[in-house]
Amino acid sequence: MKIIKLESIDSTNRLAMEMAATGAEHGTAVIAGCQTKGRGRLGKAWQSPRGKGLYTSIILRPNLPLESYPQLTFVAGLAVAVAIKRLYNVEPGFKWPNDIYFSMKKCGGILSETSAFTSEASARFAVVGIGLNVNTSLSEFAEDVAGRATSLLIETGYSKGVNEVFEEIRACLLAEVESFEKSGFTDVLRRWRELDCMLGRRLAWVAVNGDIVEGISLGPDEMGRLHIRDDTGTEHEVLSGDIQLGKN
Ligand code: BTN
Repeated sequence: MKIIKLESIDSTNRLAMEMAATGAEHGTAVIAGCQTKGRGRLGKAWQSPRGKGLYTSIILRPNLPLESYPQLTFVAGLAVAVAIKRLYNVEPGFKWPNDIYFSMKKCGGILSETSAFTSEASARFAVVGIGLNVNTSLSEFAEDVAGRATSLLIETGYSKGVNEVFEEIRACLLAEVESFEKSGFTDVLRRWRELDCMLGRRLAWVAVNGDIVEGISLGPDEMGRLHIRDDTGTEHEVLSGDIQLGKN
């Protein structure tokens, strides 16, 4: 299992997707000191300043049907949480589907991308891209995210090497994927829900077509879809789109 370490790159996900498409094996990882075009969910940019954060993409070739691939995002979230607990002895929260939170502020995010659908199992893969604010101090956050972002340094007072954090996360991810292959999603979902910091909170779902639904989060179901109950009592199932925090 190769680890590609780079000073700088446009996006570790971009390179990992290319490497996976040309056959890179399960567990191969790309890690960069900074990214010039870090990709976030829904086409957003991911700020990736040098020396402050972890920017990594890990290639997975799990022994799973393609329908289970979207659930890998939850598996990756759990792996990051377990690694943080081991390294810092604190537990993060999750904001559906893939944000790592502390004190209602975002500390990291996960962007999972998959190969095009193919019936040939050996050609399928997923790339799990993880961006984590490790050693960022408050004043170092860009204006547009300050107030909504945090880092492991801010939350715990500990400054740790990005490499150490990477090694732990990669090991945890490979272990969690193995247990997902063996035991399925039920256990993953149960553990994920224990750390769901949005459960019962008011939020707004901005659908891909721009429609907005406000309501209370009921958490994800066994397919990974988020359920929201709006003020009329109607329940909505969310597959994609942006979730914003509302006023409780
Ligand atoms: C999100 O929008 O919350 C997901 C952010 C994911 C960012 C990481 S940083 C490493 C990897 N490479 C990318 O271009 N994006 C992901």
